[in-house]
Amino acid sequence: MQIKSRRSPHTRQSRFKGPKKPEPYKIMHGRENPFPAAWLWLVDQTIPELVKDRYSPRESWKNKPFTQEDAHFFFKGIEELSERFTEERSRGVLNYFLHPKYRSAYLLYFLPLQAAKFLTLFDQNKGAMEAAVDHGLKQGVLRIGDLGAGPGTATLAALLWFLNWADKNKTDLPKIEILWLDTNTTVMDDGRVLVEKLADGFPRLRGKVRLKTVDAPWWEVGRYTENQPFSLLILGHVLNEASGPMSSNSDEGRHEKWIKLWSTLVDLSAGGGMMIVEPASRRTAQNLSQIRDQLFADTLINNEEVRLWGPCLHAGLCPLSGGRDWCHFSFPTQIPGRWFREFSKGLGSERLWLKLSYLWIASAEYPSTVSDPRARRVISDPMGEDRSTLLLCEPEEAIHHKINPRAKIFRGDLIKI
Ligand SMILES: C[S@@+](CC[C@H](N)C(=O)[O-])C[C@H]1O[C@@H](n2cnc3c(N)ncnc32)[C@H](O)[C@@H]1O
Repeated sequence: MQIKSRRSPHTRQSRFKGPKKPEPYKIMHGRENPFPAAWLWLVDQTIPELVKDRYSPRESWKNKPFTQEDAHFFFKGIEELSERFTEERSRGVLNYFLHPKYRSAYLLYFLPLQAAKFLTLFDQNKGAMEAAVDHGLKQGVLRIGDLGAGPGTATLAALLWFLNWADKNKTDLPKIEILWLDTNTTVMDDGRVLVEKLADGFPRLRGKVRLKTVDAPWWEVGRYTENQPFSLLILGHVLNEASGPMSSNSDEGRHEKWIKLWSTLVDLSAGGGMMIVEPASRRTAQNLSQIRDQLFADTLINNEEVRLWGPCLHAGLCPLSGGRDWCHFSFPTQIPGRWFREFSKGLGSERLWLKLSYLWIASAEYPSTVSDPRARRVISDPMGEDRSTLLLCEPEEAIHHKINPRAKIFRGDLIKI
């Protein structure tokens, strides 16, 4: 699909056409600090301790604090896994979690990196997270489903977020039941230790968290829920590795299978709905856009913008589901943690951006709040020689919009026009 500078006739804002270039007013961006107080406890203490205990090559290394020497030893795996992700993502990544070297690398570096992405999105979509808590309180149990859970990255980020939220609001959390599906049980076992330590370490979670892990492909989740919907369902960085049983175009019943799977997922997504996070590449982002359009087309979710928490503000066709551009975000960040900082410097430079694509579907009972009709999502970095042009998301076609080049507005921001 071509991106044009003219607005589509289907858009609801055609009255803004014309030579006047109103100064946009930024109404939201992802630049708040999303890291809860317990973050350092997890990434600087608990994960390194677990890695040292489980993955040290020598017994004599175990049960001692994680040191610079350990960082040096485990960094080799981080470097290799980082290369594998960069090189192999485009053609599908192999079973890296079968290798202890890569499991330890993921725990030490990629878990904090991906958790930072989840936390940033949780903070940008507080309404969805509060819907999850409200649903959990009303049901007496907050159920989290984490598909392709790996070491439970998304769950750990969600627990940290709920903990922080409860501390800030001086309130109790309900019981929390977690279901993980993954085809690698060893990495889930590492994650279980982290969840147990987190639940034991903080009074608001103590005695409240129960985790069930299942060795199964993510698309079989419907078999393991006992007909209970989730307060929050998360698919984190899994579709790009295993898109599901309907990935083959030659399969005759492909569309029926697609509908069956996604209607199950939508039905299971109560409370805060279903959050899908993927890498920022064109292939993965356009896949998400196509899933989104198809969910509307097959009326698995009703055709209203309030069935999406983000990133879209409208229920029209995604303007970036094909073609040259794709819907992805780069949020500026400073991920706290001594070891994370060292590892990222070792990989070449300090990690200053969180790159991702995502889709967050709202549940029917907890729709997202209607945004200001003048609000638009920025879906490009400032463009042009003087960096005075932005792409804004509109149904079917993204539009170009002029801004004051000095305005600090970036991809992912919401502006009023
Ligand atoms: C990149 S990791 C993501 C882990 C975690 N969700 C995160 O965001 O850090 C991808 C995970 O998907 C799992 N996986 C790959 N294919 C799968 C499938 N068909 N069903 C379930 N999990 C799968 C892998 O074992 C791995 O744990």
